[in-house]
Amino acid sequence: MNISNVKKVILVLSLTASYAAVAADAAISDSDRIEQYREMISDGNPADFDEMRGEELWKKPGGPKNVSLEKCNLGKGPGVVKGAYAELPRYFKDTKKVQDLESRLLTCMTTLQGIPEADITAKPFASEKKASDISSLATYVVGQSKGIKMAVSLKHPKEKEAYEIGKRIFNYRAGPYDFACSTCHATSDVRIRMQDLPNFHVQKDAQAAFTSWPAYRVSQGLTRSFQWRLNDCFRQQRFPEPKFASEVTVDLTMFLAVSANGAEYAGPGLKR
Ligand code: HEC
Repeated sequence: MNISNVKKVILVLSLTASYAAVAADAAISDSDRIEQYREMISDGNPADFDEMRGEELWKKPGGPKNVSLEKCNLGKGPGVVKGAYAELPRYFKDTKKVQDLESRLLTCMTTLQGIPEADITAKPFASEKKASDISSLATYVVGQSKGIKMAVSLKHPKEKEAYEIGKRIFNYRAGPYDFACSTCHATSDVRIRMQDLPNFHVQKDAQAAFTSWPAYRVSQGLTRSFQWRLNDCFRQQRFPEPKFASEVTVDLTMFLAVSANGAEYAGPGLKR
């Protein structure tokens, strides 16, 4: 085990202990507990390790073409990572599509590095057994927008269209329980078990929610990407699993990102 792995084990063990200590105190409410827990560990987020992994993957030659991703254009020019996430999703001329961070990374990995798309999309999310390269890359990129104000544009007609469709999907009720995203996310001060549900119609809530993802989830011991967050909420909605990086996920992300405009990006975050 190298030094950084030892550090990681120590950090994760101490996080788990802090979590247990806070959870055991019956005198305080659940949301206060999560808040306290966040404060206890505010100087160390295990997502940092995923960020480092992503940075290595970004810089290291890889894929069948054996090139790095350093020429990947995330919207601010080839190789520019700083501040790129704060302006995503956006319209890209080369693909003629609005893309979020993960669908754009997918484009770069397939075109620059020659990795077959199916190799990436078959298992795009990290598991206990296997890390996910595309998720780690996303964690690295978002970290480079920390402290930068979200400024997602709606100037291009395709951007406007993605936003409008995203908004409609957010309010679209269907499935066995007739749920929409808005069933759970358009009322203030409600929660499911321990989780406060953000009301995306309130700007402050929408900003806090969007700018804290991707996030390290203590309960899962994994850093989770925004595509994962959406995927899990489609599950909560009892909808079929969306295709990774598909239009529906990008349009929803566009709607949520624009709702967060003006707030400083604060991720990678930390969640229960
Ligand atoms: C049945 C209720 C339900 C539905 C429907 C639902 N969600 Fe969620 N959502 C939740 C819960 C519960 C959480 C908190 C999860 C947790 O902490 O484990 C959450 C969390 C989130 C978050 C992260 C908030 C934060 O502050 O970390 C986002 C973003 C989100 N949902 C978006 C959506 C979108 C978009 C849809 C529609 C595709 C949707 N949700 C549908 C229950 C729901």
